[in-house]
Amino acid sequence: MKRSCYCAEPRESDVGKRLLVQGWVDTRRDHGGVIFVDLRDRSGLLQVVFNPELSPTAHELAGSLRNEYVIEVSGELAYRSEETVNPEMLTGRLELMATELEILNSAEPSPFAIDDDERVTENVRLSNRHIDLRRPAMQANLRARHEACRITREHFDADGFMEVETPMLTRSTPEGARDYLVPSRTVPGSFFALPQSPQLFKQLLMIGGIDRYYQIARCFRDEDLRADRQPEFTQIDIEMSFADTEDVMASVEGLLKKLFRERKGASFEEPFRRMSYAEAVGRYGSDAPDLRYGLELEDLSEVFAGSGFKVFSSALAAGGAVKAIRVEGGAGMSRKEIDDLGEVAAGFGAKGMAWIKVGDDGWQSPIVKFFSDGERAALTDRLGLASGDLLLFAAGEEATVNAVLGGLRARVAEDRGLIDRDRLEFVWVTDFPLVALDADSGRYQALHHPFTAPQAGHVDMLESDPAAVMADAYDIVLNGVELGGGSVRIHRPEVQRRVFAVLGIAEDEAVEKFGFLLEALASGAPPHAGLALGLDRVVAMLTGCDSIRDVIAFPKTQRAACLLTRAPSAVDAGQLRQLGLRSGG
Ligand code: AMO
Ligand code: AMP
Repeated sequence: MKRSCYCAEPRESDVGKRLLVQGWVDTRRDHGGVIFVDLRDRSGLLQVVFNPELSPTAHELAGSLRNEYVIEVSGELAYRSEETVNPEMLTGRLELMATELEILNSAEPSPFAIDDDERVTENVRLSNRHIDLRRPAMQANLRARHEACRITREHFDADGFMEVETPMLTRSTPEGARDYLVPSRTVPGSFFALPQSPQLFKQLLMIGGIDRYYQIARCFRDEDLRADRQPEFTQIDIEMSFADTEDVMASVEGLLKKLFRERKGASFEEPFRRMSYAEAVGRYGSDAPDLRYGLELEDLSEVFAGSGFKVFSSALAAGGAVKAIRVEGGAGMSRKEIDDLGEVAAGFGAKGMAWIKVGDDGWQSPIVKFFSDGERAALTDRLGLASGDLLLFAAGEEATVNAVLGGLRARVAEDRGLIDRDRLEFVWVTDFPLVALDADSGRYQALHHPFTAPQAGHVDMLESDPAAVMADAYDIVLNGVELGGGSVRIHRPEVQRRVFAVLGIAEDEAVEKFGFLLEALASGAPPHAGLALGLDRVVAMLTGCDSIRDVIAFPKTQRAACLLTRAPSAVDAGQLRQLGLRSGG
């Protein structure tokens, strides 16, 4: 027989109809002769009643049902009696009076209940993901992901983009992480790299005349994992020819509005705000600023230029900065709370964290004794200090100061409940430097990637002052999370050569690694630009999940392992021999 509907689909207008439903036994209750089963499928639950008077055979078989058995039931849909109505359930006024039951499969006892109880550890969930996926929350997350992909495809189809697949077995694509390598059997000793992104292929597609490309693309990066990073993740990847920053922003902004407008209660400023990298880092201490709350960084370098407090004046004398954040009502914090914030600051590289509590009868602080009256007055004036305020200071190299206060800002906002969870604050961050000096290697590194174009008029500074060159790059940030990033690309081979040179990639190395790109650029490359959104992060934001693992069907752990299949795993010696490899493990 055929299923007539999903469990949660019947409505009151269906009362009296004969239905056949299939699914899992969610719960079974025995009420003195009558057996109640909540039957579950992906739509939700339906109460099924096995009454011995209606069908002795079905009732007897129902006695052997256990949770997670897979069954097929038919019977007539009826109203529940008034006292058993459950207003929480879609089908809470209805029940199926079973006349036939077939057990399609039995099931071992489940390691955890199929509900949204948070107490089950993630490792247990991931080891039994096939069961975890039955939970309503996971069903909703995967549905949200599917919807996001559907809306994405519709959006780009309508905008004239073409979906093209790019290879998984390829050469290294530099996005700044380590590569996953795949040994070649046919060319012993050589390796494919799994793509960190489709970056070079999408540029080649533009050179190939595809004009507008998109792909929901799997990417692989062997990097240190966090809640918002997976070794294998998905990008909504686009590229456009004869297009500039504005074209890319318009299309991506259009997509994000569609995706987030459908989120319950969501409202946001349109068009999205824009902010330069310098402003983001200077005012919020982060290139992915969370604009849902204030706590802005205040630059006090002028106030303390000649200060008697040596920590501040020597930081400034060395070309650094002194900045602070003002926490309204923060003066009530305990010593322990302030010490904890000091630890946070140290985690971001601070050598110390000075503080001032503003009270009705003066300031309490380990450092004010070093301040002149002028400095006190200037501080009060600049920051509009009021009783109850707490000031947190960082002094030192400017980048460190920004990072420290950015970290403190986020922590204080979280701890003090300053974040409005219903707000969506999108912001385009623009005007990134093209390169930054890497302290360890002493070499310049691309802030985005090596194929990003310098801004018009900045190309001439590539050799004379690389650090001052601004890139035509942009990130889209939502509530302090980088959702995506992109740039206008270099489309002239000589500019690409010069950028490689700035990055310390010698001519022969450039030809060896990127010769195919340089040749393609020389074959008539149109101006082009693009961007990639992290699909996992977008869906986590849509569903309000803290971790992207909750919106990925089969994610990996922080140690990049799959607990379900137990990958990675050893392989047999014969397989290694064929590949010309020896195991070092
Ligand atoms: P980028 O490296 O900034 O740019 O990546 C784009 C977006 O991909 C997401 N993302 C990740 N998500 C989950 N786990 C990860 N390990 C991970 N790494 C990145 C982020 C990020 O914003 N080729 C360029 C794009 C371009 O220039 O068009 C690129 O990959 O949301
Ligand atoms: P010290 O003179 O090192 O004992 O520091 C005096 C005060 O200044 C202490 O409260 C330190 O936490 C604080 N402090 C030290 N270094 C820094 C710094 N780089 N930025 C901000 N505060 C600091």
